[in-house]
Amino acid sequence: MFSVPGIALVTGAGSGIGRATALAFARAGASGLHLTDVNRGRLEETRKDVTAEATNPHFKAYASEAELSKEDQVVRMVQEAADNFGRIDYAANIAGISENSPMPTADTPLATYDRINNINAKGVFLCMREQLKVMRNQEAVARIPGRPGVRGAIVNMSSMYGFLSGNGYTSYVTSKHAVIGMTRAAAVSHSVDDIRVNAVCPGYIDTPLVDNIKEHLDLRTFLEGAVPMKRLGMAEEIADVVVFLLSERASFVTGHSFIADGGASIV
Ligand SMILES: NC(=O)c1ccc[n+]([C@@H]2O[C@H](COP(=O)([O-])OP(=O)(O)OC[C@H]3O[C@@H](n4cnc5c(N)ncnc54)[C@H](O)[C@@H]3O)[C@@H](O)[C@H]2O)c1
Repeated sequence: MFSVPGIALVTGAGSGIGRATALAFARAGASGLHLTDVNRGRLEETRKDVTAEATNPHFKAYASEAELSKEDQVVRMVQEAADNFGRIDYAANIAGISENSPMPTADTPLATYDRINNINAKGVFLCMREQLKVMRNQEAVARIPGRPGVRGAIVNMSSMYGFLSGNGYTSYVTSKHAVIGMTRAAAVSHSVDDIRVNAVCPGYIDTPLVDNIKEHLDLRTFLEGAVPMKRLGMAEEIADVVVFLLSERASFVTGHSFIADGGASIV
């Protein structure tokens, strides 16, 4: 297992993939975690759990509640992380939401479009912008002998629907395509700062976000047809991809959109 001995910031840490990513960082030797979510209770639960699971003897975890579609809250949250730890080595922008049920594009209310894109696209942009400001002003660290130093690395959570049509989920699909675009743009403009930026694009993962699939469809039949591996992915399986891309082992990977979907997007 690769190790990630620096400081990580994880959004959406209260549930699902964000929570699994926070736990993966703690187990992989992170020296500090700054966790954020809009749900204070679940955030605090994750903070306790990562503290119990951490393998680095110097480990510390802070939690700060933030609504990530609000610029002032994102600025405060990222500043708190920088103040608490002095630097941010790895940032995982995972928080996101989806439509509760499918609807044709023509019937999509503007309020739905705005709510989803304000969190999934604008929220990721704001987090990434503030993280980049901190990262480009910190010292580069070379953690693998012989490889160049890195100032920081960012992973933004897209989806396989960052590439696909997602019939009935216009707002979500728009937001996840946007995440891939902003990831590529930032990767190119900040290579010069020794910062890598990548996206992860999961398929159907067993978290509360896919509860609506379970409500609307016979899950077993759906998975038989839609996913070659014929199962939901686990949040932990996506967390491992996020941690790998943020680790120094992925030192030549930037601007990439990594699909982890049990084959769903190629059938
Ligand atoms: N579960 C899947 O099948 C799947 C597939 C592809 C992509 N994704 C993406 O993975 C990410 C995580 O999803 P998940 O499945 O773990 O869902 P989840 O609902 O389990 O977790 C999402 C977390 O984000 C937090 N959050 C939501 N809105 C927020 C806001 N405005 N400010 C701060 N925090 C906020 C929630 O409180 C929650 O803790 C999302 O971006 C989602 O689009 C999930």
